[in-house]
Amino acid sequence: MVELADLLNALQQAWGSAPDVFQAPGRVNLIGEHTDYNDGFVLPAAIQLQTRVAITPVPGRQVFIESTAYSDNAEFSLDDPQPVPRKHWSDYVRATAWSLEHQGVRLKGARLFIDSNIPPGAGLSSSAALEVATAQALLSNAGVTLAPTEIAKVCHRAENEFIGIRSGIMDQFASCNGRRGHALLLDCRSLEVSYVAVPRDIHLMVCNTMVRHELASGEYNTRRQECEEGVAVLSRFVPGIRALRDVTPEQLARFGAEIDPVIHRRCRHVIDENRRVLLAKQALDSGDIGTLGTLMQESHQSLRLDYEVSCPELDLMCELALGVKGVHGARMMGGGFGGCVLALVESSASEAFRETVADQYRHRTGIDCEIYECSTADGAGRLSVGDQLGV
Ligand code: GLA
Repeated sequence: MVELADLLNALQQAWGSAPDVFQAPGRVNLIGEHTDYNDGFVLPAAIQLQTRVAITPVPGRQVFIESTAYSDNAEFSLDDPQPVPRKHWSDYVRATAWSLEHQGVRLKGARLFIDSNIPPGAGLSSSAALEVATAQALLSNAGVTLAPTEIAKVCHRAENEFIGIRSGIMDQFASCNGRRGHALLLDCRSLEVSYVAVPRDIHLMVCNTMVRHELASGEYNTRRQECEEGVAVLSRFVPGIRALRDVTPEQLARFGAEIDPVIHRRCRHVIDENRRVLLAKQALDSGDIGTLGTLMQESHQSLRLDYEVSCPELDLMCELALGVKGVHGARMMGGGFGGCVLALVESSASEAFRETVADQYRHRTGIDCEIYECSTADGAGRLSVGDQLGV
């Protein structure tokens, strides 16, 4: 990613005016996978990898998009009466514009330049970061301010209703509301948040398997449907439930025989994972990283066996990570079927971790993996050269 000052200079020359620049971070998720769309709990943290959107106004209602991070340029009209996705990366920009207008914000024509160092398709929320940075830029261009959580909701709607992936709100929320030095415990029903400090001597190592199996987005929507089926059956026995968030492990055990075995396993993952998130928050609060690590391992096994969203490469990466001394926990992260494993590694062990895991993964799969050391970061906002220099 180019230095901010260089970006500003280059764009000033190309566009003839100084742009405003906004950033939105990617995220890791310590624990709480596939719980967000079940009204449950998640424990993500925004990270230093980010997407930047530079913007300058143009007359009219046309939006022009250039990028170094993505392949080709694109443009669209804000007056298009029926905007539809084109299976192009710029769909996320169109989706965000569509969602903002749907919310009643009258946008203005603009020229955008997009840059990112979040690896796409790795489970680090590159699409949410693109949506959130775009929303910040388009809002500023229109002279409108929205609170971070409102921006998260707009971007969530963009992804669900325009792109057609029925994801939960975790990624957009973390990108908007992250806090340096902290993870955030989010109640995905009430959107209440509490921040929990991440110990400084623990490194968040993200190991990219470099595989992304094709079924990812289709299976994601199927899982969501399976959870809804579970709620429909269980509500015959447990009146008043609205989501799996409302079901206890005891209720599932009691009425589980009434549910199809596959749906039962899906429900069990979500219900147990919600409990693990709350225990993980307690463990972090009391500095008990050992317990947090154990909960992460349980989460991975549950995603593998009950939710069935892991894959051999993710399982191998986890196994290799856990084999290294100084690793407290490791688990697959994000939607699944490829992408990344998150490992919590003692700072003194992080170099050895990098070498050992990369060598062994190459030896076992023939694939060169990438390992990113992530640090927690603040949520999205306007960038100035001073921020970049840390002043
Ligand atoms: C993707 C989605 C999130 C969440 C995770 C699984 O990252 O975007 O909303 O559902 O998968 O936890």
